[in-house]
Amino acid sequence: MAQVRAHTIEERGVRVARTGRAAYAAPRMTYDTIRSHLEMLQDSVRTKAYRSAIQEVVRPGDRVLDFGCGTGVLSIFAERAGASRVYAVDRSRMISAAKVIFAENGCRNIEAMPGDGEQVQLPSEVDVIVSEWMGHFLFAEQMLEPLLRLRDEFLRKGGRMIPASCSLHIGLVATNTYLEELSFLCTQPYGIDFSAVGDWPFREVGMLRIAPTELLPETVCVGGLDLQTVTGTPRALSGTIVSAKDASVFGLCGWFDAQLSESVKLSTSPFSPATHWLQFHFPFDRPLDVRAGEPIELELEILPMQGQSGYTWQARTANTVRKGRTWTQADM
Ligand SMILES: C[S@@+](CC[C@H](N)C(=O)[O-])C[C@H]1O[C@@H](n2cnc3c(N)ncnc32)[C@H](O)[C@@H]1O
Repeated sequence: MAQVRAHTIEERGVRVARTGRAAYAAPRMTYDTIRSHLEMLQDSVRTKAYRSAIQEVVRPGDRVLDFGCGTGVLSIFAERAGASRVYAVDRSRMISAAKVIFAENGCRNIEAMPGDGEQVQLPSEVDVIVSEWMGHFLFAEQMLEPLLRLRDEFLRKGGRMIPASCSLHIGLVATNTYLEELSFLCTQPYGIDFSAVGDWPFREVGMLRIAPTELLPETVCVGGLDLQTVTGTPRALSGTIVSAKDASVFGLCGWFDAQLSESVKLSTSPFSPATHWLQFHFPFDRPLDVRAGEPIELELEILPMQGQSGYTWQARTANTVRKGRTWTQADM
C-alpha cells in the first residue's frame, strides 16, 4: 500500500505560505519552540480579546487556573486583574520560560506548574478557569477533554470559564481558485503523470485566509458548546444554507467564534479582522451547482484520530451531493 502522510494538525503556530491568492499553511511547529508563541502573542485580536475578558471576569481575590499557559501571558493578565492565586499549567518546556517571565514581571501570585492537563493536581479549587485551548476549527488541538477534566475536578460550584461558549460556522466557497490550485497534479505538470496522487490535495483540509468576496454571503452555525455543561467534543455538525442566487459552490469554509465573557466575543470569521487561526477550507473535487432559494444541507463529522482531528464533510441539494474526507488511519 502506498505510504500516505496524513495532514497533521498537531499544534498551532501556522506559517502561511502565500502562493497567489490561496495561502495554505505550512507544517506546524511544536509549542516547545518560541515561534508558535510569538505568533499567538502577535495576534493582537486574540490577545487583547483575552485581556478584556479576563479584566471583566476575574474579581479581586479570585483563584484562577490558566490551563496551557505557554509564555504565561493570560496568567499575568489574571494577576493584574486582581487574582490572589494563579495556577499556570503547561506541559511544554515553555513553562520554564514562563517561570522566569513571572519573576521578571514581579508576579508574586502565580505558580508555574509543569504538567499535563490529563493528570495535573491543583492545590485548591479555583473560581475561574481561563484557557486558550481552541485549535483550527476549534477542536484540532485536542485540549477540550483535559480542560473539561480540570473543570470537573477543580472549578468551584458557580465558577466561571473563559471562554464561556464557542460556536462553529460554515460558509460556501464561491470561487474556483482553490479548485484550480488543488487540481495542479492532475494537469500533467512538467510532462509527468502524477495521477497516482492527483486527488490527494482534496483529502486534506486547508488552512487559509479566505476573503469575504470568495464566499456567498449566507452562512450557518453548525454547532455550539457551553463550556459550563459540555461533556466532550461533538462528533456531528449540521446546518442548512439557502443561497439567495444561483451559484457554483467549490467547497466549505469553516471557522469558530468564542464568547470569552459577556461582552467580549472573539471571532475567527472571514468577515472579521484576521487572526492566526485563519479559516478551514474543506474542498470539493467538483463544483456543486445550487439554485436561488434551494436548501443546501451541510453535514460535517469530526473523526477522532490520534494526535489530530480528521473530518468528513458533505453538501447536498435535492439532486446532487458533494463529499470529502481527510485521510483515516485505515488509509495509512
Ligand atoms: C494555544 S497555546 C496558548 C498559550 C498561552 N495560553 C497563550 O495564550 O499565549 C496552548 C498551550 O497549551 C499547552 N498544552 C496543550 N495541551 C496541553 C495539555 N494536555 N496539558 C498541558 N498543557 C497543554 C501547550 O503546550 C501550549 O503552550
